[in-house]
Amino acid sequence: MKRLFLTLMAMTTLTLAGAQVTPMVLGDKHVMLRVGADKAKYVLLPVQETEDIAAIAVLDGRNEMAQRLNVKLAIDRVDYWVPYELKGARLLDIEFHGDRRQKGAVGEFVCWKEIKLSDTFDTTNRERFRPAYHHTPLYGWMNDPNGMFYKDGVWHLYYQWNPYGSQWENMTWGHSTSTDLVHWQAQPMALEADWLGSVFSGSCVTNGNEVVAYYTSAGMNQTQAMAVSRDGGMTFTKYAGNPVLTSDKPDFRDPNVFWYEGTKRWIMILAVGQEMQIYSSKDMKDWQYESAFGQGYGNHGGVWECPDLFEAPSGAVGGAKWVLLCNINPGGPFGGSATQYFVGQFDGHKFNCESMPKVTKWLDYGKDHYATVSFYNAPDNRRVVLAWMSNWQYANQVPTKQFRSANSIPRDLGLFTHGEETYVSVVPSKEMLDVRGAKTKKPTEVCEIVVDLKNQTEIVLSNTKGEQVVMTYDGAKQTFSMDRTKSGDVSFSEAFPCVTVAPTHGTIRQLRLFIDHCSIEAFDAEGKMAMTNLVFPSEPYSSLKVKGGKAVIYEIKN
Ligand code: FRU
Repeated sequence: MKRLFLTLMAMTTLTLAGAQVTPMVLGDKHVMLRVGADKAKYVLLPVQETEDIAAIAVLDGRNEMAQRLNVKLAIDRVDYWVPYELKGARLLDIEFHGDRRQKGAVGEFVCWKEIKLSDTFDTTNRERFRPAYHHTPLYGWMNDPNGMFYKDGVWHLYYQWNPYGSQWENMTWGHSTSTDLVHWQAQPMALEADWLGSVFSGSCVTNGNEVVAYYTSAGMNQTQAMAVSRDGGMTFTKYAGNPVLTSDKPDFRDPNVFWYEGTKRWIMILAVGQEMQIYSSKDMKDWQYESAFGQGYGNHGGVWECPDLFEAPSGAVGGAKWVLLCNINPGGPFGGSATQYFVGQFDGHKFNCESMPKVTKWLDYGKDHYATVSFYNAPDNRRVVLAWMSNWQYANQVPTKQFRSANSIPRDLGLFTHGEETYVSVVPSKEMLDVRGAKTKKPTEVCEIVVDLKNQTEIVLSNTKGEQVVMTYDGAKQTFSMDRTKSGDVSFSEAFPCVTVAPTHGTIRQLRLFIDHCSIEAFDAEGKMAMTNLVFPSEPYSSLKVKGGKAVIYEIKN
């Protein structure tokens, strides 16, 4: 008898995986849901992306609010499920936003039939546009890369992540690690919201055995906070004295911190409206204002975001120069978001730009290259960056569901001169050569194409559906362009179909094109031009035609 009882218990636990939960309807926008305690690891929430959000308060066993989430709970169709890890949660108190009356009674929404308790959540890839060799989140929405650093042979990448939907909301820091900058291992979430706000972009520094993260708490106002990791960046403890820096400016975010040997101080640079502010600190907690940069300089078509300030590997230029990366949205050369930069000097207090104020320099001339920041502490004096491969104009609408957005391939920055100006060079990081595979005759959805250019070269990638991407190098005009107007699905946003054009800063001789399901990244092999664009062909491009030039196609080993 005792034995039978145990067997039944085991069966009950098993059948709980996928079990349904019954809603308590309390009003036409208000529902409670008993989810616990400890019945299952996750509640799987069904999402319908075209709906308004439902605000969910998660209550624990003492009726205290453990967390707040905004989830687009499904009304009449399920696009996908997202997991919420219960961790002792007992009750979900759900308030629907928007006008629900037109959709029928709240008790009839499809989400109640589709919400499940489960011990597992399936992250097997279901997307044909998921890149093979670019970093993506296992599921959910991603924007900016955050807090990247290198330590003990491991590259750490955190990122703006919504684990509860594939559109922007509920910002946390997701986390992935890699030993080669190409293959990424998903790690548990590193930082999540608290009562100071959700966790916006920021950076990490290494200080002895500690990793210290700085991020923006985005609550009613934006403030800067810090968290410390003593296990190499896997888990963080938030500093009890947060916030460490406040302001009365509404846009005050994205702290980028580094050590400046000259003054033996930590420096923090922040995006504040349309300028960058510089602060310094001796103890990492107490920050003094030093200076601001930006008024009248470069492009001001939008808000400045995600700064990064570093001494550039000098390469061919000779002499130390500093680079200030300044992401801006909107205001990009082809609309929406892009990365501009300034070259100059930094003395521990102030950044001085060496160009005339009106000069604007872009790091990448594609439409899908934003929030570029570099890894702290990269080996061999390298300055390795990643960008978010999307554009705020349509990032929430691109045709994927299980996840949204990827990061660019890793790129190494340097400097070069052209005419009177010094520019930042961008080349694919050397790790991309390690994954170069065998030569192949036809392009595939995962390949690298190397093109030796003539004075005029036209490169056409196409598929059997007549979808195509046309790239043109014009040596006379010294430009490179990419036309994606007929590249496949361009229907999800009017801002998507476009032709992007880059200056090549003199003659260029060889292009490297990286193709990965839904992206094309084009580089001058010497680093004088970079262009990153998304494409969504209905079938992979299988034909390559090059007029006035010679191409070699390589597989990419994964
Ligand atoms: C840039 C940005 C940052 C902000 C984050 C929020 O894309 O707007 O300024 O910290 O995204 O997700």
